[in-house]
Amino acid sequence: MPEFDVVGKDLAAVGGQAVVTGKAVYSPDLDFPGMLVGKLLYSPYACARIIDLDLTAARGIPGVAAVITADDIPGENSYLYWYPDQPLLVTDEVRYQGDAVAAVAAETEEIALAALEAIKVKYEPLDGVFDPEEAMKPGSNQVWPDKPNIQSHYVDQWGDIKQGFAAADVIIENTYTTHYEEHAMLETESAVAHVQSDGTVLVHASAQAPHRDRMQIARALGLPEAMVREITPHIGGAFGAKDEAHIQIHAAILAHHTGRPVKIVRTREESIQTHVKRHPSKIRYRTGATRDGKLTAIHMIAIGDTGPYVNAGEEVMMVMANYGVSPYFVPNARTEAYTVLTNNPICGAFRGFGVPQVTFAFERQMDELARRLEMDPLEIRKLNGLETGQRFQPKAVVRQGDGMQACLEKAAQISNWEARSDISRQPAPHLRRGWGMAASFHKSGFGCDVTDHASAAVNMAPDGSVVVRTGGSDMGQGLHTVLAQFAAEQLGITPDQVKVYQPDTALAADAGASVASRATLFSGNAVLRAAAPIREVLLELAAEETGADLELVDLGDGFVHVEGERVNLPIADLAAKAYEKNLPMQASGFYAMEYPQVQLADGAEGYEQLASFGAHVAQVLVDIETGQVEVEQVVAVHDVGQVVNPKGLRGQIEGAVSMAFGFTFMEDLVVEQGKTLNNSLESYLIPTAFDTPEIKIDVVELHDPEAPLGAKGVGEPPINITPAAIANAVADAVGAPITQLPISPERVLEALQSR
Ligand code: MOS
Repeated sequence: MPEFDVVGKDLAAVGGQAVVTGKAVYSPDLDFPGMLVGKLLYSPYACARIIDLDLTAARGIPGVAAVITADDIPGENSYLYWYPDQPLLVTDEVRYQGDAVAAVAAETEEIALAALEAIKVKYEPLDGVFDPEEAMKPGSNQVWPDKPNIQSHYVDQWGDIKQGFAAADVIIENTYTTHYEEHAMLETESAVAHVQSDGTVLVHASAQAPHRDRMQIARALGLPEAMVREITPHIGGAFGAKDEAHIQIHAAILAHHTGRPVKIVRTREESIQTHVKRHPSKIRYRTGATRDGKLTAIHMIAIGDTGPYVNAGEEVMMVMANYGVSPYFVPNARTEAYTVLTNNPICGAFRGFGVPQVTFAFERQMDELARRLEMDPLEIRKLNGLETGQRFQPKAVVRQGDGMQACLEKAAQISNWEARSDISRQPAPHLRRGWGMAASFHKSGFGCDVTDHASAAVNMAPDGSVVVRTGGSDMGQGLHTVLAQFAAEQLGITPDQVKVYQPDTALAADAGASVASRATLFSGNAVLRAAAPIREVLLELAAEETGADLELVDLGDGFVHVEGERVNLPIADLAAKAYEKNLPMQASGFYAMEYPQVQLADGAEGYEQLASFGAHVAQVLVDIETGQVEVEQVVAVHDVGQVVNPKGLRGQIEGAVSMAFGFTFMEDLVVEQGKTLNNSLESYLIPTAFDTPEIKIDVVELHDPEAPLGAKGVGEPPINITPAAIANAVADAVGAPITQLPISPERVLEALQSR
């Protein structure tokens, strides 16, 4: 294992002190002279025709600077995120509760609210369609007149499932359901937009994808992208909810319209009402295996309710199908996913991107299979775990499959899996203890079918300090800390000498969105590549100054090293020298992922996919009188390639386990006829530090050659596995299957009665 100076050691989060002392500046904190408050008028109906829209009264209120509709949008009236179907402002028909029909800008919030109140909209309520399975039937109400409610039916398949099931000694068949989840990031969506004297539009926004936002804003304004500049200040969480551009587009339109700065901050209620959710799903699994536990076939059919606009919904459902068998090897598979349109809340990106739902289902299947075969859940997983070179998708094989076995073994060891029979299963007459295991494999990035890249720029000042410019958002996940570490490592300086500036599309090139567990891998590689030529110059100067051979000099801790010994030559002196000699101290780096091509077993062309593995063990205590579950412990082991910042890694895993705990037990959006009924954090409960179980974390470090200094993504993997591990533990405790999330006390009692 290579030794690093900075990477692999704890570093306080970049900007962390500002966050905990309340000094950090978020978009809502910004104030510009003459700034107006923007508000959107959202629909009171999930499905209705707009008969009449009268703005006269609203426009007449003193202090109202603008009341606009779709007619006032200079460019395209569309979010243009992944699909062009969602209008920024609706003209004819509202199709979900988050649709907006008008936007206002006013001197104060009170006046803006009065203006919303004064807008007269006449609606004709329509029946709509709210049950995805109903929506799939012919003759059901149509969300769109010109296309069917089944937006897509995506299929992955290989081998021959007929033969696979014929070869099976046991077949387990079950249907699983999962529910809506709200991101509940601390900071709701916010933006301030401002037209500059040169005609450029400056937008500060809480965003995961500043460059994609820029495109969306530019098209709505009918401007070249270069005329729009987005800066992301501190961001108070995102988790997928800020992947798409939200009200920064409306703020820009209002700023353009009024010539004044406009700030829009969504209230919590508006936030929950409007942005995408985690898809509720119904997943049917048929799993076949031999008597000794080898999987022979899997057939999975998932149905996801995506709401009326596609957003990233089709991609999320495709990912569900893509992950339908992972992390196990199955010779014959067919995984299908239906993306269904309804008038319910829109669904899209949410940490895990479909994988938590499907992992819950296939890992419950694995435990049901183990129970039927009287096998140990650990053994059946080790027996089927993906190995290097094995196929997990029609055209993809896994690289470094050793991670699977290593994670399973380590999780078993830390949780004392083998010795669990020594611990009482019934510590009191009304209590039952249980253990559950689950595993997952996750790509870092979108994977081999999607083109993807990142840029970064690095510049060393004459005093040896370094500026890193990135278009990659840090929403609190620690990307900028990781990038500071990579730059410091590459240039031999201490991380306090590195400043990573917040993304600004005018100053930094596109790094892609901070999504899909991709940012460390993509932006990390881009920063290493940007710093590489500067490192070369420094090394040459170091050789020159010390008289040592180039191969013998190195950089570390801010000083030159010769043959491993630090010499009294600071890197700052080399930087000054470089400027004297007209040598370049700045460079940019570009990284696009390469997927080595391989020949698959059946002769088809395929790709090798980088993978990070994980295995969790949960221990729970169930009260059989009340149905309450206490999670006593979660053991989380992840193959992260290379730990970059141990503290940051802990934060990623603890945060994901806690978030998954909320998804598993407490969080559930109540949706009736397309309307969410619990649009507040008083009625939509998320876990606090008191609820979060004890979490034991460990890592496996299998360096991937494609990853920056070996480091792979870990933003999503832990949230994928936790619900499955807990559900398996509850099923073990009560001795009956758990097939529905969330695991409410009522469902636990039902499961107990079903035995
Ligand atoms: Mo994420 S769900 O890849 O923002």
